[in-house]
Amino acid sequence: MKNKKVYIISTSLRKSGNSDVLADYFMKGALEAGHDVEKVSLADREIHFCKGCLVCQQKKPCVIQDDADQIINKIKEADIVVFATPVYFYEMSGQMKTLLDRTNPLFADDYQFRDIYLLATCADQNEKSIDHLIDGIGGWIECFEKSQLKGVVKGVGIDHYGDVKEHISILEEAYAMGKKS
Ligand SMILES: Cc1cc2nc3c(=O)[nH]c(=O)nc-3n(C[C@H](O)[C@H](O)[C@H](O)COP(=O)(O)O)c2cc1C
Repeated sequence: MKNKKVYIISTSLRKSGNSDVLADYFMKGALEAGHDVEKVSLADREIHFCKGCLVCQQKKPCVIQDDADQIINKIKEADIVVFATPVYFYEMSGQMKTLLDRTNPLFADDYQFRDIYLLATCADQNEKSIDHLIDGIGGWIECFEKSQLKGVVKGVGIDHYGDVKEHISILEEAYAMGKKS
């Protein structure tokens, strides 16, 4: 079986924060599975809001010059795309939504990605806290109909910086998901 290209996008601006650690565990599993894995942190990148000009739908380059273009190309060419996000007001982080909006050029293009994974952490103990994020990314996935949501890690009850390291079963879940991907 051909090695898959896995692109992991960590969207928290808290470097080595809770969701970023889940991304690292997924990455470890995916590497052990023999995949070709790359991870990017939006903490190191500049991504501006989509202006809604729709120039990209005429297959012209985006009018905004920032780091989105490079990330979108990596998404386009990956077999598997993984989003790691903190829960902000029971939704995905604004950084993640801003990036999803900027993938609009792919809407008028072909793309390789098929399997999408979501890794989320939040303070709330209730697993339902992740539901709005699943709906949110579900809307994006519906627009790219060759793709599907393949797995979700619900990192609930995880708040302060570093708390995720005490949640061994959630770390193991992210690792196992990466290994099975
Ligand atoms: C702006 C903001 C909004 C948040 N909203 C929620 C929320 O709605 N529900 C919740 O359970 N936790 C909420 N949290 C807590 C984070 O989801 C939690 O600390 C998470 O583990 C942070 O992940 P990170 O370290 O990867 O950034 C919020 C945190 C911030 C900074």
